[in-house]
Amino acid sequence: MIRRSILMGTGSALPARIVSNAELAETVDTSDAWIVERTGIRSRHIAGEGETTASLATDAARAALDAAGLVPQDIDLIVLATATPDQTFPAAATKVQAALGINDCIAFDVAAVCSGFLYAITVADSMIQSGAARHALVIGAETFSRILDWDDRATCVLFGDGAGAVVLGVEESTDGVRGILASKLHADGRHNQLLYVDGGPSTTQTVGKLRMKGQEVFRHAVKNLASVLGEVMAMADLSPADIDWLVPHQANARILDATARKLKLSPDRVVMTVDRHANTSAASVPLALDVAIRDGRIKTGDLIVLEAMGGGFTWGACVLRV
Ligand code: UT7
Repeated sequence: MIRRSILMGTGSALPARIVSNAELAETVDTSDAWIVERTGIRSRHIAGEGETTASLATDAARAALDAAGLVPQDIDLIVLATATPDQTFPAAATKVQAALGINDCIAFDVAAVCSGFLYAITVADSMIQSGAARHALVIGAETFSRILDWDDRATCVLFGDGAGAVVLGVEESTDGVRGILASKLHADGRHNQLLYVDGGPSTTQTVGKLRMKGQEVFRHAVKNLASVLGEVMAMADLSPADIDWLVPHQANARILDATARKLKLSPDRVVMTVDRHANTSAASVPLALDVAIRDGRIKTGDLIVLEAMGGGFTWGACVLRV
């Protein structure tokens, strides 16, 4: 028998406040035309008072549990990917656990910035494969608006807040066609000063602000994403032509277009939410996945590929049949 982690449900949550490019242009030297042309972003959601990474994560988790037809007590593992936890510790995952009323399960955060969800789902899959868990909540949640330098037009227009969650279960079958078929993670810490936060508990004792050398990150992103997608498809013994939907990290529409071109994948097979969510870091992949499942594009039996690249650098991809 082949044991696989299967996707049982998805959910997402976005802050109520939507901020357009035009609204940003009132306070920073930018324009709707520049942002749309260079990034594809038109608006983003920004967390208000009382909306935190853990609260958004909890709302997304509740929606994913409903979609999976499970109750919180069925969950024995929570892996939450974030670079913007409510506090340095405890892990945001334990706040979600408490809010859901789960008294005992494994709960921890994963920090791999924009690749966080790929790291989190891969860890959860390994724990399901090993028998350590049967029902996992895997969440990507961020409030990047709180670590942005709102005077830096090169970064503050690019990011948004939100959360996405999936419930993974376990299935044993003779053919193993359904579920997570392959995943691959990478990191190269030599580039950790190209995208970073200039503060932290052990250095400045401040939270710090996001800093990025955008052009260099862009160059690495296109190269690394095309390469890891090739790797993961080969591991699953499939080719890019088999992909029904690519669900990529939503950093920049031009990165998505370039990746699709490299894979010779039609752009209408790529789920794109960057226009309305901007870059929500670890939340972007599960948010886009939830959007495309709920609007009926992704259907049972589809082969989907998730991918992301972010600070560290870290990057990864995951192939799964829904
Ligand atoms: O999620 C993690 C991964 N992150 C990414 O993948 C981000 C990757 N990088 C990018 O998406 C792009 O590099 C950016 C969108 C960040 C920037 O686009 P770009 O085409 O690389 O622009 P640039 O940085 O080369 O800047 C071009 C010009 C500069 O002006 P000069 O020097 O040519 O006069 C910037 O000062 O655009 C200027 N600029 C802006 N102008 C208006 C930078 N930001 C803005 C802005 N509005 N918001």
